[in-house]
Amino acid sequence: MLDFKNKVSEIISAAVLAAYPDSGLDAQAVFDMLEYPPDAEMGDVALPCFKLSKVLRAAPPKIAETIVSGLSGNDDLFTATSAGGYINLKVADKYLVSGVLEVAEEKGESYGSFDFGEGKTVVLDYSSPNTSKPFHIGHLGTTVIGHSLKLLHEFCGYNCIGINHLGDWGTQNGKQIVAFKRWGNKEEVEAKGCDGLVELYVKFHEEAEKDPSLNDEARAEFKKMEEHDPENIELWKWFLDISLKEYKVTYDQLGITFDHYLGESFYTDKMPAQVQLLRDKGLLKIDDGASIVDLEEYGMPPCLILKKDGSTLYPTRDIAAAVYRKNTFNFDKCIYVTSAGQSLHFAQWFKVMELMGYDWVGELSHVPYGTVSIGGAKLATRTGNVVLLKDLFAQAIEKVNAVIEEKNPELEDRDAVAEAVGVGAVVFHYLYNSRIKDINFIMDNALSFEGATGPYAQYTYARTCSILEKAGDTALAGGNITMAEEGDLLRAVAKFPERVLQAMDDSEPSVITRYIIELATAFNRFYHNCPINTAEDAAVKAFRLRLTKVCGNVLKTALGLICIKAPKKI
Ligand code: ARG
Repeated sequence: MLDFKNKVSEIISAAVLAAYPDSGLDAQAVFDMLEYPPDAEMGDVALPCFKLSKVLRAAPPKIAETIVSGLSGNDDLFTATSAGGYINLKVADKYLVSGVLEVAEEKGESYGSFDFGEGKTVVLDYSSPNTSKPFHIGHLGTTVIGHSLKLLHEFCGYNCIGINHLGDWGTQNGKQIVAFKRWGNKEEVEAKGCDGLVELYVKFHEEAEKDPSLNDEARAEFKKMEEHDPENIELWKWFLDISLKEYKVTYDQLGITFDHYLGESFYTDKMPAQVQLLRDKGLLKIDDGASIVDLEEYGMPPCLILKKDGSTLYPTRDIAAAVYRKNTFNFDKCIYVTSAGQSLHFAQWFKVMELMGYDWVGELSHVPYGTVSIGGAKLATRTGNVVLLKDLFAQAIEKVNAVIEEKNPELEDRDAVAEAVGVGAVVFHYLYNSRIKDINFIMDNALSFEGATGPYAQYTYARTCSILEKAGDTALAGGNITMAEEGDLLRAVAKFPERVLQAMDDSEPSVITRYIIELATAFNRFYHNCPINTAEDAAVKAFRLRLTKVCGNVLKTALGLICIKAPKKI
């Protein structure tokens, strides 16, 4: 209720200044004090006057009464009452129509967007699987939180650059080469694609348990890659192509595209300059042959820059990548989305960059998220202990397909709908929790058409579409609020812009996910209690159709912001 809060803050500030001229309380100060009462019966917005009693030197109930008596004449906007030291404001129906419905109609799909990001550039580094390892459920977080943050930034006017910082350069790629040279077969890998690579990955680890010298062999193969050994580079490129082809299938299912795939390998020739700078600044220390930056003074373990054999490390590549991105994109912000397990890594190299004298290091930020485990229904695990993202999606799609087969076999575009609902269910379930929480993923809960789920939200959107389709060319104009459910639906619509801001401020897509359920619930309550196409009065019908359309638009926009497609029919 951003617009409403802005308007009432002005009015309340004027009333306070009239009653207490010395208070100096401006609209912004009032705005910051406004709260949403826990119980909607009390009002839509409240001002707790105990926050003012010190400045105004009066008891909160007295302050509340005095201010309320100065608020008359605003019936088109609100009714105000004082109770127990609070001023409770109820939004007027008139405002819900002119200030919410009409505004949302006029803005259409841009309702809820902002322009404060205009002229600013944000780089988002997310998804970034390691090409020699499985693309597994642990990457769901970075992929969908990262893309959702990108969409939210775009919605707020920023120029956004999404980068997939593929983990394509490191000892693990040396392991892949060892595994292939020892046990691999070109035709088999060609035929099996990523699964073939994952098999090699698993095989390597099993064998290295028995014979740890394989790890030295892997380090040596990686060293050769860094020295541009043609055979290794050719193999590495081939593995990379296989991986990318498959990742793109998953990204397509999610509607995700990247502006750049710039893996760690891209920074090979950009690291020496940074290593030199570290040396010149006297920041490098040799420790057991390796080059490190000592961070003891900052309460952190040392940051590893070069291994004993001179090969580079993950932080080295991150430092070179940050400098490259700053020089190339001149970002205002650069956001990294990874599991919380990497928080120390980011804290370390951010500190190293600060010590190197990069004064824009404050523009870098790390957005961490919790772990995912799998509970309930069994999922195929090809590699023993990890669940591949593509298998998770495939299983969800298959289950949705079975439901469609049973309930609506004639559905148009059946495969596309099953994919949108299956993948959407997984994403919704995941993004429903605040990102830092560890979650236990239960497929059957994700796929339910009831409760706070993706299918429920998508189904509600499809319902708005079918109502509008049935209405044909009924003119969507006129009418007024006649039922409480209509007003409540508009109250829910009114909250959208503020939720967008909150999701941005907290880097928290779950704010949008939860909002979608709030809005869908308000819509379904309205739908069950207020006849729409069957309303007898033409003005009532037209008004309800207007509400349906606006609500559908907001649902679609909000689902889009969390990487979920909104099919018109389910
Ligand atoms: N490839 C890494 C992983 O899978 C994530 C990379 C995150 N981005 C970065 N610039 N470090 O764990």
